[in-house]
Amino acid sequence: MKLVMLGAPGAGKGTQANMIAEKYGIPHISTGDIFRANIKEGTDLGKEAKSYMDKGELVPDELTVRLLLDRVSKDDCKDGYVLDGFPRTIPQAEVLEKELEKNGDRIDKAVNVDVPDENIVNRMSGRRACLKCGATYHIVHIPPRKEGICDNCGSELVQRDDDKEETVKNRLKVYHEQTAPLIEFYSSRNVLETVDGTKPSEDVFANICSILG
Ligand code: AP5
Ligand code: MG
Repeated sequence: MKLVMLGAPGAGKGTQANMIAEKYGIPHISTGDIFRANIKEGTDLGKEAKSYMDKGELVPDELTVRLLLDRVSKDDCKDGYVLDGFPRTIPQAEVLEKELEKNGDRIDKAVNVDVPDENIVNRMSGRRACLKCGATYHIVHIPPRKEGICDNCGSELVQRDDDKEETVKNRLKVYHEQTAPLIEFYSSRNVLETVDGTKPSEDVFANICSILG
């Protein structure tokens, strides 16, 4: 099963993708997480990505596409994957589509987690993230069992650099300009499913599971 998660920054793509990956036994691939891991390790890729991410801009397609195609060519992706944060532009979606077509393959479903802009800024300010395993928490809605510590791997939780209010506003603007057109793109391929992302995360997940079967 090859899935794409769509939705505004903070809609809950990462939260849902983690649960989907566990239930269906497929890797959760987040380009944002890969960039953040590179930033933490101080790689050249991380340095380049950080200059865009800190402003809430997109990392250039060329760089992102190369990284993603390399990742999905790995052995653990043979039976599918859930993409979170990719594609984010029409050109990215077109490259992915062409690459899959080479093997007579396609994206099975694009799940759009729908949350209005008004709810987003509040979610982002309460988010805490584990940079080691990618798990995401919210200090009020989805707290970890022990404050500041990841339930999955015991690492320290951090607030992301791009979760400042001004940066979040720019990320939303960029989302509407460059990423929202993907809703129409996948709708025209007849694979789009939209879920109400304002519900509690277990309800959103149940809804997604009933769609995926
Ligand atoms: P990325 O890491 O993908 O960030 P994003 O799209 O802005 O999305 P987020 O990770 O912020 O939100 P999410 O939807 O995963 O929500 P989450 O589950 O955490 O990208 C970061 C940057 O990297 C980009 O700005 C760009 O610069 C670059 N980048 C990445 N991919 C790129 C690409 N393909 N091309 C170019 N550039 C790229 O949930 C948010 C919060 O809400 C959490 O605290 C969570 O606990 C809480 N929450 C989740 N669900 C619920 C719920 N149902 N109810 C209440 N709270 C909830
Ligand atoms: Mg995320």
